[in-house]
Amino acid sequence: MPPVTPDAPGEGTPRGTAAGKAGRWGSLARQALAGERESRGAPGSRATMCELYSKQDTLALRRKHIGPSCKVFFAADPIKIVRAQGQYMFDERGEQYLDCINNVAHVGHCHPEVVTAALKQMELLNTNSRFLHDNIVEYARRLSATLPETLSVCYFTNSGSEANDLALRLARQFRGHQDVITLDHAYHGHLSSLIEISPYKFRKGKDVKKEFVHVAPTPDTYRGKYREDHADPAGAYADEVKKIIEEAHNSGRKIAAFIAESMQSCGGQIIPPAGYFQKVAEYVHRAGGVFIADEVQVGFGRVGKHFWSFQMHGEDFVPDIVTMGKPMGNGHPMACVVTTKEIAEAFSSSGMEYFNTYGGNPVSSAIGLAVLNVIESEDLQGNATRVGDYLTELLNKQKAKHTLIGDIRGIGLFIGIDLVKDQQKRTPATDEAQHVIYKMKEKQVLLSADGPHRNVLKIKPPMCFTEEDAKFMVDQLDEILTVVEEAIGARSESVTSENTPCRTKVPHGHLKVY
Ligand SMILES: Cc1ncc(COP(=O)(O)O)c(C=O)c1O
Repeated sequence: MPPVTPDAPGEGTPRGTAAGKAGRWGSLARQALAGERESRGAPGSRATMCELYSKQDTLALRRKHIGPSCKVFFAADPIKIVRAQGQYMFDERGEQYLDCINNVAHVGHCHPEVVTAALKQMELLNTNSRFLHDNIVEYARRLSATLPETLSVCYFTNSGSEANDLALRLARQFRGHQDVITLDHAYHGHLSSLIEISPYKFRKGKDVKKEFVHVAPTPDTYRGKYREDHADPAGAYADEVKKIIEEAHNSGRKIAAFIAESMQSCGGQIIPPAGYFQKVAEYVHRAGGVFIADEVQVGFGRVGKHFWSFQMHGEDFVPDIVTMGKPMGNGHPMACVVTTKEIAEAFSSSGMEYFNTYGGNPVSSAIGLAVLNVIESEDLQGNATRVGDYLTELLNKQKAKHTLIGDIRGIGLFIGIDLVKDQQKRTPATDEAQHVIYKMKEKQVLLSADGPHRNVLKIKPPMCFTEEDAKFMVDQLDEILTVVEEAIGARSESVTSENTPCRTKVPHGHLKVY
């Protein structure tokens, strides 16, 4: 992996697309780094590395003061990250990691244009959205322009969870119905209202499914109920939703909303078959409900060709409500619900004011605008298509080589590698996937494994990821899979090997990987 040294920001960044452009990490980043140098003690001292505490002390303090249910990545051997730039993160020793998982740092970690926008607006004014201000309306105008015409009314929030909670309120107010249809393995946020509709959470905890929640099968054509050999998987999965609606009606219940990620991320990088959303929307509308598309993970051009993932399904599919977050502020907490005038007016007709202290504040809006500008000026959607296609091609070659790879699926810079113990039975290779991500970390590549069986390697890097990064990542994966497969072969021949895979001790507790 080409090093990005503090002395030469951006130098050595791979050829090609977005991140390698000279001067990209302009004067701001350099100033910050110069400041860092000035405050340095001896080389390798804590000051050099932006640390307050030694790693051991940080861990001890975290154990003491941070709630135990807040897990860290690589819990068995956590890494301490002290700074980041573009698609790279750096630990306290200055070691560089290739970031394949941070879809929040959408346009690249600490992008100077975003940092500058935040700084400038912070110096001028930050306040709540009850004062008239240009930033919020300009941002809402720009955001609406990326969406189909009917989606033109914005409500700003501070997190994806808040956005989804508000989306449920809008839907319930619109028609006066209560029930929600959600997909199996879905995650929509950490608020009580969202744990209720997130099987990813309530199926793993002690919570039971509430009577107003209906779980439809995930439209997963690799491991789901209807697979790629089915004549019409989209129709079959949509019929499951229709059946749920009928059953709900038969027991006197009414559907307020169907909610789904446009591509399911935590659920295992699942891309619904073409035509599924159209059919579901038809059934849900007929039942008097609305369609909520959760774009919190997958929005803002990640799929390349389209700005929103739901747009992959064709122009004849338009959700009634879209929620967004994570990439929106490139790390700054901002999120949004966009809906139609009709739904917004119904919400307002209740007479209850909606006020959110920080939502859409001038700083957040300035940051949001900078993110939109960078996506456009650096052609990050084009980059997602080019690099995503290249990476998928490389991974498909690996699939032909490695029996552990059952499926490669993805679009743009949203890709899943489904690891299996058995190609025919598609048995999830859970332990192997956990082993692989720890080994990748040793090779300074950050990946996560998720899905109901935690066997799907998730790739969703900052959008400035390059072809060289892709090649580097795949080369490391190739080496690791080769060793693991050799060891499995050796093990199946009853030979005990030093390289026996899955020796890494991984915690049994479930760690959600975002
Ligand atoms: C699809 C999806 N929706 C909503 C959320 C909640 O967003 P936040 O963590 O910003 O509250 C997440 C977070 O992981 C998510 O993945």
